[in-house]
Amino acid sequence: MVSVIIGLQWGDEGKGKIVDLLSSQADFVVRFHGGNNAGHTIVVNNKKYPLHLIPSGILNPKTKCVIANGVIIDLEVLTEEIKMFDVKGRLFISDRCHLILPYHKALDRALENTRGKDKLGTTARGNGIRIYELKNWDLFVEKFTFQTNIKNKILKALGAEEINVKKALEKIADLRKIILPYVADTYALLQNAISENKKILMEGAQAVMLDNDFSPYPFSTASNTIPGAVNTGAGIPIQKIEDILGVVKAYTSRVGAGPLPTEIHGDLEDQIREKGKEYGTTTGRPRRIGWLDLEATKFACQVSGVTDLVITKIKLNGESISYSSCGYQELAKLTPVYKEFTGWKEDISQMKKFHDLPQTCQEYLHFIKKFLSLKISLISTGPQREEYIKL
Ligand code: GTP
Ligand code: IMP
Ligand code: MG
Repeated sequence: MVSVIIGLQWGDEGKGKIVDLLSSQADFVVRFHGGNNAGHTIVVNNKKYPLHLIPSGILNPKTKCVIANGVIIDLEVLTEEIKMFDVKGRLFISDRCHLILPYHKALDRALENTRGKDKLGTTARGNGIRIYELKNWDLFVEKFTFQTNIKNKILKALGAEEINVKKALEKIADLRKIILPYVADTYALLQNAISENKKILMEGAQAVMLDNDFSPYPFSTASNTIPGAVNTGAGIPIQKIEDILGVVKAYTSRVGAGPLPTEIHGDLEDQIREKGKEYGTTTGRPRRIGWLDLEATKFACQVSGVTDLVITKIKLNGESISYSSCGYQELAKLTPVYKEFTGWKEDISQMKKFHDLPQTCQEYLHFIKKFLSLKISLISTGPQREEYIKL
């Protein structure tokens, strides 16, 4: 049985926590798109685990973790994570994964620097040589040298530092030795798991509102974040997907540039950021803060066929226009229609039943459910693994 977990806003909805929680019931947790631009934070027994590439199922010793072909891999980041966890016999990496090489990062940064005030806010984790090429070192050296020499010309023209081919290759040779034992035919592994009726959790990164096609490009991430990416990014046929869980935070955050129609400025923005600890897991940047935008969430649910909602972090005019018809210029100008709710101050982190929640909190959740015409199946009441209410 295949379940997909995706973010419905602009990322950082708390997907990592939810995947960790649900992975105790899963045989496999699979990353299928994006790269280490993702940053998932899991908190177990007060210890924080920041993950960028290894799937968020790694803290459950029985769960196997797969990095499927749709993920792009920075060898340095991956080896650091491999050293942090007990991954022997539990981590499988597709040889179809593209590599992020030193020249991608240098070019991403150099291009972003030339954009000046029009920066996209990219996480600079920016790809054609695949892991497959690492298996034949001589051929890899040839391809890498050829590509780097071309990219060095561009870097030089942009006034950026060039890549030292020899030094870069020495480093990659070391990283390669750590990674190669985990390289596997993840396509066959997952097809086999499906035929044996195993439980597979597909771990989305980023979120629908950053999708490369369906968000207001160019303020998008480089990959498709909607469930269609499960097919292209892991080879799992669409009709094998049983559930699509959309994770949505009780408010909104966004890192980097791009329109955020319900953005809050001033004291309240700072208050929510501090309370919600809204600082990027990947870059440490303060996240921008906004009210929950149900029009955006409705669009995200529709385009991705969400079947269940997971709500996290609940502690805490004019002409109508639809998200599907808006580009980034229209979105930057529109005025949202707000509906006000009374808040709550009680500590809800230990509550286990929906009806224990403050009345005002229940009303807020009822409204979201009704507006989106979807059921809520999980409510996260804090960052720790056990802080949740199952419905
Ligand atoms: P991306 O893949 O980068 O989009 O991230 P993500 O969706 O995995 O979320 P990330 O872990 O970056 O950010 C969520 C933050 O909120 C983390 O620090 C979590 O520990 C924390 N968190 C998750 N759920 C809750 C919750 O219900 N309440 C509170 N207060 N914090 C939560
Ligand atoms: P890129 O994916 O690094 O190209 O960045 C494009 C935009 O998406 C930037 O605004 C990033 O801050 C944002 N972004 C990329 N990945 C994530 C993520 O996992 N969570 C939140 N924002 C992200
Ligand atoms: Mg994150």
